[in-house]
Amino acid sequence: MCGIIGILGREPVAPLLVDGLKRLEYRGYDSAGVATLEEGVLTRRRAEGKLRNLEGRLEAEPLAGHSGIGHTRWATHGAPTEANAHPHIGPGVAVVHNGIIENFRELRAELTGEGVTFATDTDTEVVCQMIGAYLGKGGTPTDAVVKTLARLEGAFALAILFDGEDDLLIGARRGSPLAVGYGEGEMYLGSDAIALAPFTSRIAYLDDGDWVVLTREGATIRDEAGMVAERAIQTSSASAAMVDKGNYRHFMAKEIHEQPDVVARTLAHYLDLNAMTTKVPEGLPFDFANLQRVVITACGTAFYAGLVAKYWFERLARLPVDIDVASEFRYRETPLDPGGLALFISQSGETADTLASLRYCKAEKQHIGAVVNVKESTIARESDVIFPTIAGPEIGVASTKAFTCQLSVLASMAVMAGRQRGVLSADDEGRLVRALTETPRYMVDALKLEPQIERLARNLAKASDILYLGRGSSYPLAMEGALKLKEISYIHAEGYAAGELKHGPIALIDETMPVIVIAPYDKVFEKTASNMQEVAARGGRIILITDQKGAAAAGVETMETLVMPDVPATIAPMVYSIPIQLLAYHTAVFMGTDVDQPRNLAKSVTVE
Ligand code: AGP
Repeated sequence: MCGIIGILGREPVAPLLVDGLKRLEYRGYDSAGVATLEEGVLTRRRAEGKLRNLEGRLEAEPLAGHSGIGHTRWATHGAPTEANAHPHIGPGVAVVHNGIIENFRELRAELTGEGVTFATDTDTEVVCQMIGAYLGKGGTPTDAVVKTLARLEGAFALAILFDGEDDLLIGARRGSPLAVGYGEGEMYLGSDAIALAPFTSRIAYLDDGDWVVLTREGATIRDEAGMVAERAIQTSSASAAMVDKGNYRHFMAKEIHEQPDVVARTLAHYLDLNAMTTKVPEGLPFDFANLQRVVITACGTAFYAGLVAKYWFERLARLPVDIDVASEFRYRETPLDPGGLALFISQSGETADTLASLRYCKAEKQHIGAVVNVKESTIARESDVIFPTIAGPEIGVASTKAFTCQLSVLASMAVMAGRQRGVLSADDEGRLVRALTETPRYMVDALKLEPQIERLARNLAKASDILYLGRGSSYPLAMEGALKLKEISYIHAEGYAAGELKHGPIALIDETMPVIVIAPYDKVFEKTASNMQEVAARGGRIILITDQKGAAAAGVETMETLVMPDVPATIAPMVYSIPIQLLAYHTAVFMGTDVDQPRNLAKSVTVE
């Protein structure tokens, strides 16, 4: 998704804008640009591709000025070319935008009819030209913006700079996040706290519909109705250091290795390690004992975390779970009895489809719970209760530590639900909590397989198609493993329920097809072992991820067996996430792809 930065500074701002944009690279982009006021005149530099191209442009043609805006663009309307890169300009104004203006064609036609000539085919240029038109009719910058905002339909976060106005920056948000940063005699706008981390940790998040007028003295925030609004200034935890690769080659590698720590930190938030019980969050607006079912929606990796949670809620709490991907759920209009629980899982807390599903469930009078990694996110702020993952900023586009922290939260919640519903005894709870507290230690053991996995990845890199199989709570892991691999190595991969092999996928099996089987020695292992026999009988190359017992009982010749620590069944999904993440990572590294910012992908999909 696009990234936005705006600065009213006290020193040359172009290098600062680029520094802020570097913190936003993780969101995914395909072009970038900055604009500053050089002696009151708006001037811009833009470049296709990565920020290093923009830096080269700025080296060749430096930009002066202490006020500026910057943008990383993830193309929605218009190809990822320099001409379509932001900032876009209109008469006397420069704009950077994240989101989609749904009615831009209608507005473009209206402006063209008034004699406006467009330089690009982007929706954003309509915003510039409309503001410019109002300025041309004698409006003040603020009036021109307010009148333009009233005409726009769709989602946007905007930062707007004006010719001749060195101490003025206007921002607006509807559907795409935007934060105000408070400095010492400097003021900032940014897509999130991470963008502003190099400059300030004092952040206020705009609400939907808000717009803000910044000068170096401060900010005046107004709501959709134009009334002055107070938005709390928080101290952001996203310090510049937290978004640094450290000694790792990629953020993804760092975040895979951070998992024992951040999972431990997350579990400590939900478990009482002295009493060996779960901690019920203060003021929970519902009691699991009174629920008939839980609805879970999410996207991508977060959806797979929800799928694992279905097994836990139904087995440990006898609580039925309906789960669907948010992009389907939001339009299915499923009937919901008032007073039910709807859970939304999202690392960013900004995913458009998940947010739309939340709003549907709110309208259906559900209790809204959100498992999120960004407590100030839109999904968090629109929920009745949030269950935070304490993963810290996740920069790699491929989600890893957020996933295992989501699983940790959901496992703790399922045990809590089992207790509240009288399904689990105090002893059961103690046993399960003890198992959960062991998770980080087992993850450390699993990380020790990395050298073997790195060697294995070199063979995987030669494959054109890969099949992942799993049963029970390993089935969502099979799909997550396939997603990890395909999204960063670009190798086609599919995750399947092992029991479904005979219903079609077995036709794919031949000696060129690696089959990765995720199978701890649990109560369905024997079933999966017979699936492996079927694969082996057709020459399939099996990579088995199991434990000592599973390795001994496999009964087939494997291309490779990764022998994991012997872990309690309940925590296997967290621990077995490690090898599937490492497999994807090392395969991608060997392929030479852009591991942290894979092509076409964004870290947070804030548009439909
Ligand atoms: C995961 O590796 C992907 N980057 C993607 O599927 C992601 O999980 C999905 O877009 C949901 O994002 P969210 O958790 O921020 O809502």
